Amino acid sequence: MKTEAKLIPSIAGYAEEADSLVDSYESITFEDVYQPLLDLLPERGHALDIGAGTGRDAAALAARGFRVHAAEPTAELRAHAQRLHPDPAITWTDDALPDLAGLLAGGTRFDLIVMTAVWMHLDEEERAKSLPRIIDLLAPGGRLFMTVRKGPIPPGRRMFPIPIEPLIIAAKSNGLVLLRADEFGDALGRQDVTWTKLAFERQNRV
Ligand SMILES: C[S@@+](CC[C@H](N)C(=O)[O-])C[C@H]1O[C@@H](n2cnc3c(N)ncnc32)[C@H](O)[C@@H]1O
Repeated sequence: MKTEAKLIPSIAGYAEEADSLVDSYESITFEDVYQPLLDLLPERGHALDIGAGTGRDAAALAARGFRVHAAEPTAELRAHAQRLHPDPAITWTDDALPDLAGLLAGGTRFDLIVMTAVWMHLDEEERAKSLPRIIDLLAPGGRLFMTVRKGPIPPGRRMFPIPIEPLIIAAKSNGLVLLRADEFGDALGRQDVTWTKLAFERQNRV
């Protein structure tokens, strides 16, 4: 059954292209993506991967000893992920930003949240709603790693240019401390795509 893309505008194109995206998403590693932030990775604990795609990062975190929740609203990608990475340390959900209703109701608070190549799919209003909910899901002292794409919008996708400075200001005003933000080339070698990789930490007060 195909995902009803119109209910979640930000997943436009993913159900149709899921089969052809698998090899590309799995051709790089979590370490390729997050090398510049690896020294900031918590040792272990509860991790959440939002927009987990084919499960590459969720599986790598499970292999590093995290108990992982992986949220992926595109059913076709989630099916590939569960087939490719059948690790009992990973719990899959079809939660989506900005609501993340199931995760918020579930009560787990995470030591690490990763959001790889997802943020630019949300419009300004969705991003504003999402940020406080993501932060609510972080344990005090928990960290948020994210990558934000800059480059041409692939046909059929919904994507927005993301100014980084307002993101950092909004994160700070919602209680996050910026640990790192730098721009890097594309791990898949696309010359016209760059990524800002950011690490934040939730302040210790609850
Ligand atoms: C470029 S892919 C990245 C997948 C994976 N994180 C990776 O790095 O390989 C973007 C992912 O974001 C997911 N996504 C899009 N809108 C979302 C939303 N509102 N909430 C959560 N995930 C979303 C898509 O279904 C897709 O899996």
